[in-house]
Amino acid sequence: MTVPLLRVEDLRVTYRAPGRRRVAAVKGVSFAVRRGSCLGVVGESGSGKSTLARAALGLEEGARGRVVFDGQEVLGMGRTARLAFRRRVQMVFQDPLGSLNPRLKAGAALAEVLRVHGLARSRAAAARSAVDWLGTVGLGAEYADRFPHELSGGQRQRVNLARALCVGAELLIADEPVSALDVSVQAHILTLLKRLQVERGITWLLIGHDLAVMRHMADELMVMRAGKVVEQGAADDLLSRPHHDYTRELLAASPRVEEALARREESDGLARSGTD
Ligand SMILES: Nc1ncnc2c1ncn2[C@@H]1O[C@H](COP(=O)(O)OP(=O)(O)OP(=O)(O)O)[C@@H](O)[C@H]1O
Ligand SMILES: [Mg+2]
Repeated sequence: MTVPLLRVEDLRVTYRAPGRRRVAAVKGVSFAVRRGSCLGVVGESGSGKSTLARAALGLEEGARGRVVFDGQEVLGMGRTARLAFRRRVQMVFQDPLGSLNPRLKAGAALAEVLRVHGLARSRAAAARSAVDWLGTVGLGAEYADRFPHELSGGQRQRVNLARALCVGAELLIADEPVSALDVSVQAHILTLLKRLQVERGITWLLIGHDLAVMRHMADELMVMRAGKVVEQGAADDLLSRPHHDYTRELLAASPRVEEALARREESDGLARSGTD
């Protein structure tokens, strides 16, 4: 078996606020994500999904256990190693507006990131490259001149993805990346996420509570409840033959993004045109 891109062993995260009782948010979670695959993490609100995501990025002070990315220990990583790590592993959030600078047009935002990371030799080269990256996520050159508030939610999420990709992200940790979007727009963005996995070899740690989304995206699936893993395995098996009542309940409660996906697959080409 090949070495996984990300390996998490017995991860524990406890929050301690002064004067308040401790909250054990993640209680001994282990998993591995193969390079180029998508691991979906599902579970009800408060089950520790976002905490797990932040801990995998090395952003939780109270994290214990091991997080190993491409053979490197993430918890307690030194400053130089962390800089490279934060390029290769990036987070995609639910609310793309909150993660974009409101005063920068999409093209300028990407160009700035490229310049900061020394990935473009001149302003003109950065601007050209920014347009190329917008194209990668299905946005035409005209979107380079739009401010975040002039973009739809789906378009903003595309810009966000372009920003992560342009610095060379290999693992994307996406915390509910489509749950703020309309169902039809969700389908477009999910199609894009899958395409980035298949065509560019992006590895996904995809967090959500919607099993229909996971059916489309996840190769492996992990079900969390109250900070622990309830079950994990191949997504197809788990979704067709869930072992636990908890997983069955989640399945029964899952909305109908699949119908929109089916419609989207019929009317091909939409995902590239940025109509969302
Ligand atoms: N900064 C914090 N300080 C104290 N407790 C926290 C903090 N962040 C999260 N928690 C607690 O940790 C537990 C897990 O929270 P987390 O946000 O990881 O859940 P989640 O699965 O992402 O939920 P949701 O689906 O609602 O996003 C919850 O009990 C939450 O109240
Ligand atoms: Mg969360």
